[in-house]
Amino acid sequence: MDRFVMTLNRHIIEQERLYPHATGAFTALLTDIALAAKIISYHVNKAGLVDILGKSGTTNVFGEEQEKLDVFAHEIMVRSLVHGGKLCALASEESDGLIPIPENIPKGKYVCLFDPLDGSSNIDVNVSIGTIFSIYRRVTSGDGPGTLEDLLQPGYKQVCAGYVIYGSSTMLVYTTGTGVHGFTLDPSYGEFVLSHPNIKIPTKGKIYSVNESYFDYWDEGVKNYVRWAKRAVPSDGRPMNSRYIGSLVADFHRNLLKGGIFLYPGDNKSPDRKQGKLRLLYEANPMAFIVEQAGGKASDGFRRILDIQPTELNQRTPLIIGSKEDVEIAEEFIQGKRSE
Ligand code: AHG
Ligand code: MN
Ligand code: MN
Repeated sequence: MDRFVMTLNRHIIEQERLYPHATGAFTALLTDIALAAKIISYHVNKAGLVDILGKSGTTNVFGEEQEKLDVFAHEIMVRSLVHGGKLCALASEESDGLIPIPENIPKGKYVCLFDPLDGSSNIDVNVSIGTIFSIYRRVTSGDGPGTLEDLLQPGYKQVCAGYVIYGSSTMLVYTTGTGVHGFTLDPSYGEFVLSHPNIKIPTKGKIYSVNESYFDYWDEGVKNYVRWAKRAVPSDGRPMNSRYIGSLVADFHRNLLKGGIFLYPGDNKSPDRKQGKLRLLYEANPMAFIVEQAGGKASDGFRRILDIQPTELNQRTPLIIGSKEDVEIAEEFIQGKRSE
């Protein structure tokens, strides 16, 4: 008798049962995201065979050149989500401003913000990339179109966050506030199957993950932390190992499973990098919700990421995220409470 196969759909329905007032809307919404993930995964895995690699010739609101797969993933996410009638508004890293739900489609009580393809610089070289999503309940009354107010909510208001990693296998990892659960796509029958129930991040790890090419532009506290991480301090330190893939989803996923810390600090290389590169709404908030649910921590070096009140859709934030003890040590250095 083969073991019971816990698919993503079954799991979501079980999660809904934990919330007495939940309707099927949530299940339908997550099912739509899972469908988009399967379609994107299918195209990522055959990207080299069809004309979907390379630059699209356009730039996004951040002035970043868009890859064809960035635009493709964006369109798949919008198309899969907008028709379900569960959302009153959307927002995507790859498009500027609020994405409205078409007139003729009923508006739902949720909003979804997403990074359709994370790790774009790695697309053409077959390195793991991902999709990141975040869901909030609308805060404006009525059942009309959503507004910016519904999108600009602090991260602790999220009702769901997750990511898909297109790697050696395609995995979907998500939380609705009762733990973190990982599903692996079984391509033989196109289902996400529970493979990593109740993921917990080790309280400390041996991996630090940061792009050290910006070292000279960091504030002193960040420099001191990375210097410390590199050398064993017999009394209270330990030699750490450096790993940096350049796709947030892949660097985060490795640390979630093995323990460790990822840093994308602000730097002084140019004025627009003072707050770092990563986006609060599309990357930091969903990853912060997930890591806290797994027992880890996420801050900008000073504040809990989930407490930050967004003021605009595209705002960036420094991100220090991972094993609780590692993040707390990094915060001590960044806040100047410790220099070695
Ligand atoms: P995106 O492809 O969605 O723009 O995200 C890329 C981000 C993130 O995935 C990664 O951690 C970071 O860019 C890497 O930036 P650097 O190349 O500056 O290290
Ligand atoms: Mn990204
Ligand atoms: Mn992206």
